Amino acid sequence: NWTTGNVIEEQVAAIREQVGDKRAICGLSGGVDSAVAAALVQKAIGSQLTCVYVDHGLMRKGETEQVEKDFVAATGVQLKVVDAEERFLTALKGVSDPEEKRKIIGREFIRVFEQAQAEIIADEGPAVEFLVQGTLYPDVVESGGGTGTANIKSHHNVGGLPEDLEFKLIEPLRKLFKDEVRMVGQELGLPDEIVQRQPFPGPGLGIRIVGEVTKERLDLLRDADAIAREELTAAGLDRDIWQCPVVLLADVRSVGVQGDGRTYGHPIVLRPVSSEDAMTADWSRLPYDVLAKISTRITNEVRDVNRVVLDVTSKPPGTIEWE
Ligand code: XMP
Repeated sequence: NWTTGNVIEEQVAAIREQVGDKRAICGLSGGVDSAVAAALVQKAIGSQLTCVYVDHGLMRKGETEQVEKDFVAATGVQLKVVDAEERFLTALKGVSDPEEKRKIIGREFIRVFEQAQAEIIADEGPAVEFLVQGTLYPDVVESGGGTGTANIKSHHNVGGLPEDLEFKLIEPLRKLFKDEVRMVGQELGLPDEIVQRQPFPGPGLGIRIVGEVTKERLDLLRDADAIAREELTAAGLDRDIWQCPVVLLADVRSVGVQGDGRTYGHPIVLRPVSSEDAMTADWSRLPYDVLAKISTRITNEVRDVNRVVLDVTSKPPGTIEWE
């Protein structure tokens, strides 16, 4: 009979057996799957595991700290953080096309990860023979040739690492669905902010700025996104919505008035959606007073934003993300 306790015990035993006295590495994305996979493997082999977290500078407010501090505190995992913000921003300079952005972010990500990997391998210690991946059951089924959203947008995520595999894979979540993964994560003592996280794309805020990605725009979007998340959480709506992209229309300006002055600022788009699997989605009918609060706070607190708009498009025809 299925209990999270059984799953953990079984996996821990299997991973110990598989890895023996060798070492493993695991890329952390900040998402649920890689966090739970890493925590399981950590429980099994402790310091024989090293995790790598690439900070591409496209994360939301507080997310990098969540991995660096809370995740490490909860698991005791050995973590190598690479601060690659400048590298990513330089590579993204002048680029507005969404697919081009994905390509660049994916490419830089693999380069940075491989560099970190090489450094770990060069450390003293047993051979690094294993790579941990947070593959879930639906991923296993889907890669059997379904028509996923991957066909529409070239998804980059940390799961797709690296191509020239000289590693053997450890995939402790292969038989689990998302809700089961969350239960396992909870049982392993991971913080709620990580275990209950809504989906967030691998390219991060890079594909939520319509236009060129700059540090200034990222900071602005991070502030707006943090306000929206705060208010949705405060209203108890986190479990009702699948995710709520907050998008900056960086190439659009509109006229506004604030105090006694005319403003000419950017719109922020709220895109709350309800969905089962992200393949189709409907826009979430959020309470007006929550939307009002978010709008008032964003326009008051975020410089250069003078308008907040709500996306009321289902998927299809709209995708969940704007890029
Ligand atoms: P769309 O926008 O295609 O999104 O309706 C469907 C789901 O996929 C996420 N998404 C991505 N995830 N890399 C990812 O890891 C990507 O490039 C990417 N693009 C979209 C999106 O957040 C939604 O959950």
